[in-house]
Amino acid sequence: MPTIHVLNGPNLNLLGIREPAIYGSVTLAAIESALRAKAGTRGVDLTFRQSNHEGDLVQWIQDAGLAGEAVILNAGAYTHTSIAIHDAIKGSGARVVEVHLSNVHARESFRHHSHISAVAAGVIVGFGPLSYELALEALLSGAAQQKS
Ligand code: DQA
Repeated sequence: MPTIHVLNGPNLNLLGIREPAIYGSVTLAAIESALRAKAGTRGVDLTFRQSNHEGDLVQWIQDAGLAGEAVILNAGAYTHTSIAIHDAIKGSGARVVEVHLSNVHARESFRHHSHISAVAAGVIVGFGPLSYELALEALLSGAAQQKS
């Protein structure tokens, strides 16, 4: 069974209580359950992880890329700062769909640039928890083919 890795960066463990006007009230655990249900019906195994530490994300991306397994990545604020995550995607050849719950382009200017987009197969922004499901659909449909 193919595996897709869903990797979540800093502060996403706070979903449900964190800035609900921006991020809504759905928890990360609820996003995980919905995604697992969808993946299960499509014959895909999911790993679903969150870390507040950049190095964890770098390692998980490397592991997925070297194993030839795709990644749905919400790197949180590291999206806008992390050259290390950019390099991990590029260096391991990971096929990554970048996701964001909020429409980062309608927010502060420091959220407008992503170090991930240039090495991602595609980007899904602004649809709340549905962003993750759309990313899964993109990977399952074969639409997200480009590797870094
Ligand atoms: C986010 C957007 C980022 O700018 C922010 O730092 C996050 C969440 C999103 O999913 O909308 O932590 O990635």
